[in-house]
Amino acid sequence: MTPPHHQNPTPLTILNDPLFEHHKIEVFIKRDDLNHPLIQGNKWHKLKLNLIDAETQQKTQLLTFGGAYSNHIAATAAAAFERGWSSIGIIRGDELAHNHQAWSATLKQAQQHGMTFEFVDRQTYRLRHNQAWLSALQQRYPQAYMLPEGGSNELAVAGFESVINELNDQCADWTHLLCAVGTGGTLAGLAKFAQPQQQIWGIASLKNAQYLREQIQDWMGSATTNWQLLTEYHGGGYAKTNADINANMARFEQRFAIALDPIYTAKIVSAFYQLTEQQTFAPGSKIILYHSGGLQGRQANP
Ligand SMILES: Cc1ncc(COP(=O)(O)O)c(C=O)c1O
Repeated sequence: MTPPHHQNPTPLTILNDPLFEHHKIEVFIKRDDLNHPLIQGNKWHKLKLNLIDAETQQKTQLLTFGGAYSNHIAATAAAAFERGWSSIGIIRGDELAHNHQAWSATLKQAQQHGMTFEFVDRQTYRLRHNQAWLSALQQRYPQAYMLPEGGSNELAVAGFESVINELNDQCADWTHLLCAVGTGGTLAGLAKFAQPQQQIWGIASLKNAQYLREQIQDWMGSATTNWQLLTEYHGGGYAKTNADINANMARFEQRFAIALDPIYTAKIVSAFYQLTEQQTFAPGSKIILYHSGGLQGRQANP
């Protein structure tokens, strides 16, 4: 597969397959993996308005939270690096502090982009939404603009308005969009700005993700019904996979020569094939698969 080139607006590419013809559906992929050279996909849309806000507040440092394989950690480090800012990653897993050998390639890449890390134990990491703990961190790092885990906040959600506008320009009458869900910020943003007749279906990459529904609804700020969270396609849990996901990922990559990542976008594609074969989509549906990037993780941690 040739390495992707950065382009904007990103292509909405039609996917041709006898399976789709058989079910009388049209299928497209929104190539947001091509939207930025360093900060791919949904990560860029979630960061872009936060970065403007950070600039307005004259901050010169980004601080955020994540696990050792977090695409958001890599994206935050890259965004700070591009601006000549510093960055701090609060990383789950104190065992990594003195064991550089065990660092993921994602952490090493973030470090190359100037990120410094504070490794915390799992109990401390649970405080990442605790206001008192966050205030104490802010006092220690007064120049830091703090981003939550996964980068999901209200400005991140607002960042998806431009994605929906771009899609509506590229295909006015699309009916469904399938996206990957980690924290649910991306799903909330896409559903918030979509029309009522445009269904946004999020495919949870983690197990038991039902609890995210309330937070997603809160981020959207209104009780819309144009979205669903599908929780049965995680393949065993976050960063786990199963035979269906692996087979469907290989089937898609071979047919369309578009690389997926095993944690997020492979699960969208696998859910999509299964839903299609179960005739879930009415004939005439125009379905968009949202490629949210994540290839950094695949390249960095093969
Ligand atoms: C490639 C990719 N797709 C989708 C997601 C899920 O995004 P969200 O956390 O907004 O649900 C993430 C990150 O979490 C990601 O890295």
